[in-house]
Amino acid sequence: SNPKWERVEAAKREAALGGGEARIAKQHKQGKLTARERLQLLFDPGSFKEAGALVQHRCNDFDMDRQQPFGDGVVTGSGKVFGRPAFAFSQDFTVFGGSLSESHALKICRLMDRAVAAGAPVVGLNDSGGARIQEGVMSLAGYAEVFQRNVDASGVVPQLSLVMGPCAGGAVYSPALTDFTFMVRHSSYMFLTGPEVVRSVTREEVTQEQLGGAGTHTTKSGVAHGAFDNELDALAGVRELLSFLPLSNRDKLPQIPCTDPTDRQCPYLDYVVPGSELEAYDMLGVVQQVVDDGQVLEIMREYARNMIVGFARLEGRTVGIVANQPAVLAGCLDIDASVKAARFVRFCDAFNIPLLTFVDVPGFLPGTAQEYGGIIRHGAKLLYAYAEATVPKLTVITRKAFGGAYDVMSSKHLRGDVNLSWPTGQIAVMGAKGAVEILFRGKDTDMKQQEQEYELKFSNPFQAAKVGFIDDVILPRTTRQRLCQELEVLADKKVWRPQRKHGNIPL
Ligand code: COA
Repeated sequence: SNPKWERVEAAKREAALGGGEARIAKQHKQGKLTARERLQLLFDPGSFKEAGALVQHRCNDFDMDRQQPFGDGVVTGSGKVFGRPAFAFSQDFTVFGGSLSESHALKICRLMDRAVAAGAPVVGLNDSGGARIQEGVMSLAGYAEVFQRNVDASGVVPQLSLVMGPCAGGAVYSPALTDFTFMVRHSSYMFLTGPEVVRSVTREEVTQEQLGGAGTHTTKSGVAHGAFDNELDALAGVRELLSFLPLSNRDKLPQIPCTDPTDRQCPYLDYVVPGSELEAYDMLGVVQQVVDDGQVLEIMREYARNMIVGFARLEGRTVGIVANQPAVLAGCLDIDASVKAARFVRFCDAFNIPLLTFVDVPGFLPGTAQEYGGIIRHGAKLLYAYAEATVPKLTVITRKAFGGAYDVMSSKHLRGDVNLSWPTGQIAVMGAKGAVEILFRGKDTDMKQQEQEYELKFSNPFQAAKVGFIDDVILPRTTRQRLCQELEVLADKKVWRPQRKHGNIPL
């Protein structure tokens, strides 16, 4: 036996136990896995390699020198997800409540530096009581070092956060800076100040769950991009999302073998747009018909449901889907839908994921709530995001493409590469009824007949096709085949832009 090695092994055994059996049992009793168990599920079996298991904090105040657990409340390392590399940190609530100390932060920072250098995604599993109270400003400095790295890594490697416990105060800003934040229902929460502080400052009575639970952040605030019923589903969900993403902005777009024929016709699509103007249909169903195996990984599914965004594949290649949903708010663009789609478009552009846009939009949602809320600047975000995106941009107009919203939704004018319309497309300043009411206000004319004439003239794709704003009008059933062909041709699209520090997207 080798006493030196035995000492290391003993330390590693101690590190593996985190805050000890009792606290692990408490964690399990709450339906939560430990930091290490989570990493085992996140990565392919046996692939996780830990770094920094023997790190200890350097604080001497409040008797902290007498408690120096190995690892210091966070497990960091790398492994494989479906055979591709990824980095992760996992906060260990059993060690000082997973609170963030100087050393804890340094471990995360080193991990992120390695991930950026290696060009592979970073996944953060958050479960923490916040800043390590005993360390004061050292802990706050640690947060800011992580924030700076989140920003530096933005658009370089994908960053994903999975909140699996408390995440409060300054701690929320690291997930907020990452590309995607997911939560676990009923066991995770995020807020800047908790219910007690809220009560004392604003006199509002609110529970932890109401204030910052998964339900709140996936439906009301838009802080989280998705929620899962339990930790197993959440970790599997993160793995699935990673499978769609390039490892970094210099990695190739992932392409998996595709068994769904690219020339598959979709007869259902020929009948999906209802005869009546006022009837809705489900755009998600349309997207599912078109993409490989009907698989769409929706992002922010519960938020701004008048807009669908998510990842899918065409011929095995990842595409970013953006689609108006006529079944909700008639598919209008409003503040939430614009911001949701804008951020998604920018993510796809940063990581070279082609954009596939399905358009059925009657315009922007009218009203004081929207105007006072700043729909002008929020709508501008989506416009800006599409205009700035240099990835292949394919657009299919299924029905309405009205007014400013037509321009915004990946139009030819914002450098759409391939803009297609179904025969049911209506590309016009507005609907026939509204147009005729304005054009012939107070005039003695047969409104019904004027409406019909307007429809004949403008409520179709011909005017746009005549001037090349629409590249082709296609039979709906051929949509998949056509998009696969176009995407293959565009796969190596490159656009050079003049040098500048960065643009100034209207935030
Ligand atoms: N700094 C240092 N230790 C912390 C901590 C922090 N921010 N947050 C929690 N801990 C420690 C606790 O002292 C406790 O230690 P122990 O196991 O040795 O007794 C352990 O972590 C577990 O915390 P506990 O309060 O028992 O867990 P809980 O599930 O009942 O509550 C919180 C979780 C997060 C609500 C609660 O710990 C809390 O309010 N923490 C402080 C949050 C805060 O204000 N952070 C600073 C601002 S960012």
